[in-house]
Parts: sequence; structure tokens; C-alpha cells
Amino acid sequence: MRHLLDTKTLAREDALRILDVAEDMRDTQSREVKKLPTLRGKTVVNLFFEDSTRTRISFEAAAKRLSADVINFSAKGSSVSKGESLQDTAQTLQAMGADAVVIRHGASGAPHTLATSGWISAGVLNAGDGTHEHPTQALLDAFTIRRRLFADDSRGRDLTGVRVTIVGDVLHSRVARSNVWLLTTLGARVTLVAPPTLVPQDVSAWPVQVTYDLDEAISAGPDAIMMLRIQLERMNAAYFPTEREYSRRWGLDAGRMAALPDGSIVLHPGPMNRGLEISADAADSPRSTVLEQVANGVSVRMAALYLLLAGERDTSNAEEEAR
Ligand code: CP
Repeated sequence: MRHLLDTKTLAREDALRILDVAEDMRDTQSREVKKLPTLRGKTVVNLFFEDSTRTRISFEAAAKRLSADVINFSAKGSSVSKGESLQDTAQTLQAMGADAVVIRHGASGAPHTLATSGWISAGVLNAGDGTHEHPTQALLDAFTIRRRLFADDSRGRDLTGVRVTIVGDVLHSRVARSNVWLLTTLGARVTLVAPPTLVPQDVSAWPVQVTYDLDEAISAGPDAIMMLRIQLERMNAAYFPTEREYSRRWGLDAGRMAALPDGSIVLHPGPMNRGLEISADAADSPRSTVLEQVANGVSVRMAALYLLLAGERDTSNAEEEAR
């Protein structure tokens, strides 16, 4: 793999390879082999033009656990405020020896531009671009669903036929888009639930079912329900019902939790608007995978960095080297 830009064009075998290597990475962490020497001598640049807690810190932790050097760049406080372009910023960081650039940007397509423009030779990982995609979030979500639904590995952790319902602000959600493409590539059946004004216009071309009625979607018995953050910072007032109306019709609360099938799980990519799209009861319930998603994000990002920067070497070699 040269870059990780989206899940729409990610081949099934590449997605499964990342998830399987992430399992190996998770094993090394749980066996207290905290640091692998695999990426010693490599430099990973975190290039963040938008705010982030989970993704930026998790990429940093992942790179450090593989012994890479990490340079953190935040647009705030940088020469971007003096008008420096993406090209000049990226080339400056490349000149400092970047082997991989992890980029979050408000403009959809910025990571693709960086990867294909010829400005830099480093591998590019998309950490979220506009409303377009957030591929490592979808990979960690799929990883979490596999681990929670198939803890005994009885189905080889195959997501074929698994029913995933994604609820909320689909219009603005790069998480929803990446999950739709990845989960359907892996064979899951995806239903979207949203207010009519928060459904993308091109949704008829997506491989999903769409409903406006959360209670109807819950009565269909999903295996996993993923609550999306309401992106108030991207919201045009015309799109949004009142917060009270939203949480009444599309929020996950104790009553709706009780209506979910036994064994079903609740995901949220974070950060959560507690009391809006998800109640505290639901967020903190044993069915919630919110903190597991965060922990799994490190393993998945270790796998992505490993596959980009170290190629196809057997991860067991990396474990051997660590001893
Ligand atoms: N899920 C997610 O992307 O969170 P951050 O914005 O905190 O990185």
C-alpha cells in the first residue's frame, strides 16, 4: 500500500489485511510488548489543519509504539496563518525528512491532492478530509464490530450479513461515508437513519437502505448501531430541527436501548454530544464500545503505518525483534 486515502477504493483484501495486522498489533500491546522496533529511523508527520483529540493522539501513539519519530504540526500557531499554502507546508515538512504524512484538512480531497500532486514523496494517510472520508475511523469501527460480535472467532470475524445502522448527521459525516463503503465492501448490510434534511442528495447511489424513523430501524434488529455526532459547527440552521426535537426523534436514549436486540452494540466515533444524539445512559452502558473504539484505533493505525512504511514484512518478525 502506498497511501491510505479512502475506503471507497480500498480493496477488500487490503481492508482485511489492515484488520488482521491490527489484530497482531493488538496482541503485542496486550502482551506488554509495548514498543516494536519496526519503524525505527522513519519519521511520521501529523499534519492537522482541523482540531482533533482521538485521531491525532492515536496516530502519534501508534507511530511511537512502532519506534518511528513523530513531528506534530497544527495549523493553529503555524505559518499557515501567514498564508503559507498546503504545498509549501507539506514540502517544508518533507524537507525535514517525513516518510509518512498523516493529514486532517477541512477541504474534501486535500489528502488526495497531497498524494497525487508530486509535491512530496511520502506516503499519505487521510485522518479526515472535510465531509469526504475518515478511513482509519471506519477501519477501527469495523475492527471493533468484529471483535465484539465475534469474540470467540466462530465466524472467522466475517462481517457478511451483519446489520449496521448508522444514525444522525449523515450529510456532514466523513465517518458515515467511510463506514458505508468499508462495511459494504466487507459484506455488512447498512441502514442509514437521519432527518430528511441531513440525508445527502446522492444517497440513492449508495449501497444502503435509508429511513427517517429510528424506532422502525431499531425494530428491524441491528447487530450494531452507530450514533453520529451532530456537527453543529458545519450546520446550516435550515438543516437542523431543534435540539429537543432532534434528541426526541433521533437520539439514542434508555428506552431505545431497551428496544435493541440482546447482544447488539453501540458505537460512536466521538466526540459525543451527550444528551443530544446519545444519552449518558447509552454512552456509558456495557453495550457501548466508545472507549474500545479509541483503544482499537491505536492498533489499527499501527497496522496502517506498518503496511505503508514497512511493506509486507511478517509482523511476527517485528515481535521477534522486540524481544
Ligand atoms: N473520531 C474522531 O475523528 O475524533 P477526533 O476529531 O477527536 O480525532
